[in-house]
Amino acid sequence: MGLKRNIQAQSTIREQCRELVFSDSQCREIMKRLLNDCNRGLAKQTHKDAIVKCFVTYVQDLPNGTEKGKFLALDLGGTNFRVLLIELSENHFEMRSKIFAIPQHIMLGSGEQLFDHIADCMAKFMKEEKVVNETLPLGFTFSFPLTQLGLTKGHLERWTKGFNCSGVVGNDVVKLLEDAIARRGDIKIDITAILNDTTGTLMSCAWKNNNCRVGLIVGTGSNACYVEKQKNCELFDDIDNGSGQVLINTEWGAFGDDGSLDFVRSDYDREVDRLSINPGKQIHEKMISGMYMGELVRLALERFTKEGLLFGGKGSELLYTRGRFYTKYVSEIESDPPGTYANCKEVLEELHIKHATEQDFVNVRYVCECISRRAAHLVSCGVATLLNKMDDPHVTVGIDGSVYRYHPHFHNLMMEKIGELVKPNIRFDLMLSEDGSGRGAALVAAVACRKRR
Ligand code: GLC
Repeated sequence: MGLKRNIQAQSTIREQCRELVFSDSQCREIMKRLLNDCNRGLAKQTHKDAIVKCFVTYVQDLPNGTEKGKFLALDLGGTNFRVLLIELSENHFEMRSKIFAIPQHIMLGSGEQLFDHIADCMAKFMKEEKVVNETLPLGFTFSFPLTQLGLTKGHLERWTKGFNCSGVVGNDVVKLLEDAIARRGDIKIDITAILNDTTGTLMSCAWKNNNCRVGLIVGTGSNACYVEKQKNCELFDDIDNGSGQVLINTEWGAFGDDGSLDFVRSDYDREVDRLSINPGKQIHEKMISGMYMGELVRLALERFTKEGLLFGGKGSELLYTRGRFYTKYVSEIESDPPGTYANCKEVLEELHIKHATEQDFVNVRYVCECISRRAAHLVSCGVATLLNKMDDPHVTVGIDGSVYRYHPHFHNLMMEKIGELVKPNIRFDLMLSEDGSGRGAALVAAVACRKRR
């Protein structure tokens, strides 16, 4: 390709990617709409029809580092399903865990099959760990939208991410798990709490850091929870408690399901949504999270190739195959030091594109950057909305999830953008929360046990 054509292709790609770059006024409009939606979720009158549900979690007390005891935890809803055994002692914890696969046919099968599988994995683990004869308290991290009626009662609102098991929506998930355990009869457990992964993340971070007031996940899905004043939670009916605050699971992944994000969506977003198992649902999440990010990039690369702007117009079958551009590729490509393209070259070779030029590497990286920056900026709009709403002088945001963890620039992009969008009197930091789904679940269970006594 001649130099002139190179420059032209590059500038056409940049121009076409402009829709992926949000202006300051677009970010502020997103924040305004999200805040409005959160308030609708919190209010009794509007909750039922609200898009961003802001579910009450019934978690009111944050840990203080003195929690003790031996707990089981289950973690369902991320990339892996895990069973964990956690021993908490003052400012110290030990954890053993085992990862189990959830095969596709179970993710899309019946609820009974799913919960039998979970109970089966749990029994195997308990036998291996030699705790079958103990009745341990269990924290169940179930990372889907739940309408909670208490700490141990939660009705599934809808499935998200890759799950769609029949007979679960509208039912109490704790009961379904208890029934599955009873069907086996070989193990005993005491489900002390059911919680979202964002809650676990917040708790896990709050254990060491008492400024932590937001829990955020940017992984397979995206969601956040935060500490709200009890007086703002019209749906919270537990009045005998004194802490005056309650954790709210925003379920912001559903933001945009009523069209409120259409003004910033692209054709790639519409295509990802159209071919998903839940079209029209989780619109915000589909613009951000790891389950979709690679595919958004792939769609853009496919389009630019077909327009003759990449790879001399010649793609490959793999490049044109849905789901074949993994989200981890985005992190790998953006991890190449400036001016070098070793990872990019490797990724393209994996996709059977062996004829890429240096100009192609530059353009591919640019597309990745646009999609991942947009995700980081959307998440930042969300975090800034919550920080401004809480209006506390100093807040730590506990964060987990594969995108935040492995993308080389996500943290810095967020620091910069939140700094621009947050009120000037608010200080914040972003802290990687180590294993919220496990340790966080144990902490929620521990705090609940403390209260029970
Ligand atoms: C999805 C789920 C939500 C969870 C998030 C991150 O958005 O609906 O409950 O927190 O993914 O795992």
